Amino acid sequence: MIKVAPSILSADFSRLYDEVKKVEEAGADLLHIDVMDGHFVPNITIGPPVISCLRKKSSLPFDVHLMITNPERYVEDFIKAGADILTVHVESTIHIHRLIQTIKEKGALPAVALNPSTPLSALDYILEDVYMVLIMTVNPGFGGQSFIKGMLNKISELKSKIVSKNLDVLIQVDGGINEKNAREIVEAGADVLVAGSAIYNAQDPACVIRQLKNLPPA
Ligand code: DX5
Ligand code: ZN
Repeated sequence: MIKVAPSILSADFSRLYDEVKKVEEAGADLLHIDVMDGHFVPNITIGPPVISCLRKKSSLPFDVHLMITNPERYVEDFIKAGADILTVHVESTIHIHRLIQTIKEKGALPAVALNPSTPLSALDYILEDVYMVLIMTVNPGFGGQSFIKGMLNKISELKSKIVSKNLDVLIQVDGGINEKNAREIVEAGADVLVAGSAIYNAQDPACVIRQLKNLPPA
């Protein structure tokens, strides 16, 4: 079954708790939390204090997507704050192998993200060590951008690699996903769909989540 991870980047941050509850009740499997530092991407969002406040109020697994430089300095803080899955960009650190081991040692599930122009070869020698790979289908930094169609091939090539190596690694896809393009993304090999604007801008988020999962209307 496809998992859906609503991104709170598109939530109303003045009512963040209600916005998390809303997607929790609407059938979210994970809560996708985008962390941006104004260096790795041209936008700034939230850090560990906000995550630890939400942690006390939500039972959803927290899927924390770090879009920051020097992630090694902060992984422990994010895990202590409540990250269950911690995703780091391969472009953001020189020592990605070491960082994956650190995330595991500190008690979270490690995931790695690739920007649209980063080749799958960046996963050589680490694919066996991760819980999940995040394929970015927009250039990271903002919600509400359009899905980059050329990424469908990248997803299916990654799926083939995972199957041929007989690995148990999930493929998460993030950026520009909506109820119209979800099918082809899943057919290409996605296991986890992130959606921000498609869910938070909808009248009925539960209905959108069901459509993303290809379930009939409730
Ligand atoms: C973009 C973020 C995404 C973003 C997706 O840098 O990583 O998680 O919130 O938003 P939509 O679904 O609106 O493209
Ligand atoms: Zn994200």
